[in-house]
Amino acid sequence: MNKVTTLKKAVFPVAGLGTRFLPATKAQPKEMLPVVDKPLIQYAVEEAYAAGIRHMIFVTGRNKRAIEDHFDTAYELETELEASQKLDLLALVRSMNPSDMDFSYVRQPRSLGLGHAVLCAEHLVGNEPFAVLLADDLMVGTPPVLAQMAARFAELQQSVLAVQEVPLAHTKRYGMVAGETIGDRLMKVSKMVEKPAPEVAPSRMAVAGRYILTPAVFQHIRSQPTGVGGEIQLTDGIAGLMTQEAVYAFQYSGKRYDCGSKEGFLEATVELALAHPEVGEHFRNYLKNLQIP
Ligand code: G1P
Repeated sequence: MNKVTTLKKAVFPVAGLGTRFLPATKAQPKEMLPVVDKPLIQYAVEEAYAAGIRHMIFVTGRNKRAIEDHFDTAYELETELEASQKLDLLALVRSMNPSDMDFSYVRQPRSLGLGHAVLCAEHLVGNEPFAVLLADDLMVGTPPVLAQMAARFAELQQSVLAVQEVPLAHTKRYGMVAGETIGDRLMKVSKMVEKPAPEVAPSRMAVAGRYILTPAVFQHIRSQPTGVGGEIQLTDGIAGLMTQEAVYAFQYSGKRYDCGSKEGFLEATVELALAHPEVGEHFRNYLKNLQIP
């Protein structure tokens, strides 16, 4: 493979049902739930864009049409905003699909797992390295977390996984990795297990929802037997990839909010509201004066 300095494509698996947020997600995708004023999926797309990626590939499913509409032109809305001279709002709406950004959509017909979702995008990714972003994980970092990873990828030219340390009691929620520390925040992965019990977890290093993968991963996902939960797991595909190529784990700098859980979603809402240029100050005063029983 020729040296790749800029990643071009990102895959967003968005076919999941979002049952943890019912009834909110009965008729709307969980990725469209807003944190303050932006849907989760937009945070992830902006993070990919900030890492230099311009082709966004969504692996979608039934009831997910709102995501396509969100990143499409909104003629009626734009015409109304123009007519009423609400030019700031018009610019805001138009900034979401800049002319240098491409979108592709492919459907995952059945919920067969994250690995399967990534495989559904294989023909759109082709034979080049790509990023995977799970929009449930809202990442806040400076530089943005995927950009930090892309810089590591540019040096290493091999797969890079975002990792963070988690309490031992939480290992059953994540893909867990272990390996040899080879540099600042960087580990060469030698073991990777999906959602192990604490007793058998290889370490406390958990994979967060950001990956940069080489295209060789596809054949390994395909050749893995069904994994945890009866699903085709991305983790198992990456574990297979490790028998062929080096895989690195990068301890990103920043904060991850698990917006797949109500608690994480609420934490993100409070902290991002406090940092919001328009409502932050008001919200801070409100919280300060709140009598919490
Ligand atoms: C997925 C992956 C898991 C990873 C996690 C990060 O799990 O399978 O390896 O650690 O995302 O959020 P899920 O949260 O979809 O159960």
